[in-house]
Amino acid sequence: MTPSWRKWAVVPGLMAAVVVATALTASRAHAQTSAPAAADTTTKVNAPRGPWGYSGASSVQGYSPVQPIKFPHPVHVQQAKMNCQYCHFSANKSPDPGLPAVGTCMGCHQIVKTTSPEIQKLTKYWTDKKPVPWVRIHRVPKYVHFPHMRHVNAGVTCQNCHGQVQKMPQVFQYASLNMGWCVSCHVNGYDPAKGQEASGYTKSGNSWVLASTSLSSQPAGGLLVADAKAQAASPASAPLAAPIGLKKARYDCASCHY
Ligand code: HEC
Ligand code: HEC
Ligand code: HEC
Ligand code: HEC
Ligand code: HEC
Repeated sequence: MTPSWRKWAVVPGLMAAVVVATALTASRAHAQTSAPAAADTTTKVNAPRGPWGYSGASSVQGYSPVQPIKFPHPVHVQQAKMNCQYCHFSANKSPDPGLPAVGTCMGCHQIVKTTSPEIQKLTKYWTDKKPVPWVRIHRVPKYVHFPHMRHVNAGVTCQNCHGQVQKMPQVFQYASLNMGWCVSCHVNGYDPAKGQEASGYTKSGNSWVLASTSLSSQPAGGLLVADAKAQAASPASAPLAAPIGLKKARYDCASCHY
């Protein structure tokens, strides 16, 4: 039988961990605000360990590296009407959402736009039998457990966490991915109506259609974050967001840290 003092010995240990977490987060936030010059994408791309301050932190909000092929999400999602999971094929069945193989691209690009220099780069990877070396943007540290399928199957929209990727000429990290961001949703609950609104799709009859917006008015970063905040604060959206059916999730330390 566990002596009762052992149960209580755990509590100061936990408190210490929380204090350490808070201190680390605070010192990183300070380091970030005092180094605005680091917002240069070229140095970020060349940084061997990515842009984050130390190996224990998530990747940085706003990070938007230049990719080896200028892959346009807007063209594929809005014009070619492709579903996110056509390419990110394992988002609903694995922790890792998956990136498309070159063969998936070539299914169309053996025929489509073959004279484009970007498609010729793609074709070279195909004939060389090499994967495209896409630069990874979003990453949580190794000690954090993040299962995509649990979120996707609970109905959390991709855009709720990644922003409206269908409007991004170059993908950037929309959310902070820090612990407070994860925990506040788990504690307060996910509101499907808000998530649907954040996705940029609206209901038309029985189907969801992309809310029409001008692509050219979308800058590569920044604005969408402000948009989301403005939307959340807007009283006009209040009737939509009835606080029923909020989806809560576990927030004990062990659910995210093994
Ligand atoms: C035609 C295939 C295709 C479709 C459809 C597609 N993607 Fe992607 N996605 C890619 C490729 C290739 C990359 C890597 C290059 C890049 O970052 O642009 C990528 C990158 C991403 C990233 C950044 C990954 C990282 O490294 O962190 C996110 C997030 C993402 N996609 C979300 C979405 C969402 C959301 C949708 C639907 C609205 C979508 N994608 C539809 C092919 C696709
Ligand atoms: C379902 C068919 C389809 C698939 C699969 C597909 N694409 Fe495309 N792609 C298109 C279409 C259609 C266009 C727009 C062509 C146009 O502008 O006339 C396009 C445009 C592009 C362009 C812009 C070319 C330019 O110069 O304007 C790039 C780059 C590209 N695709 C890369 C990719 C990559 C990389 C993949 C795999 C991750 C991929 N595509 C998968 C259909 C597809
Ligand atoms: C609850 C928030 C959340 C939702 C919902 C979500 N993601 Fe993610 N996504 C993340 C986080 C966090 C990471 C970093 C994960 C890691 O490092 O293990 C990530 C990483 C990715 C990556 C990069 C993975 C890689 O291997 O390069 C892609 C691509 C991606 N997400 C696409 C999607 C798509 C598509 C959807 C919807 C079907 C989606 N995500 C839904 C939070 C989310
Ligand atoms: C927008 C809301 C939201 C955000 C942000 C979010 N989650 Fe979740 N999370 C959920 C929901 C909803 C579930 C599903 C609960 C269920 O299946 O009952 C979930 C489930 C999980 C689970 C499975 C828990 C279990 O019951 O075993 C883990 C682990 C997890 N999330 C980790 C994370 C991490 C790590 C982050 C941040 C990087 C994160 N989540 C961000 C809403 C969110
Ligand atoms: C819903 C998921 C989730 C839960 C629950 C959670 N964490 Fe975290 N934790 C994270 C993520 C994501 C990070 C990466 C932090 C970053 O980059 O800011 C993190 C980072 C940390 C760090 C490193 C500090 C830092 O700023 O890098 C410590 C220590 C930590 N967590 C302790 C805890 C403790 C103790 C608990 C329980 C009270 C807990 N965590 C619960 C997701 C979670």
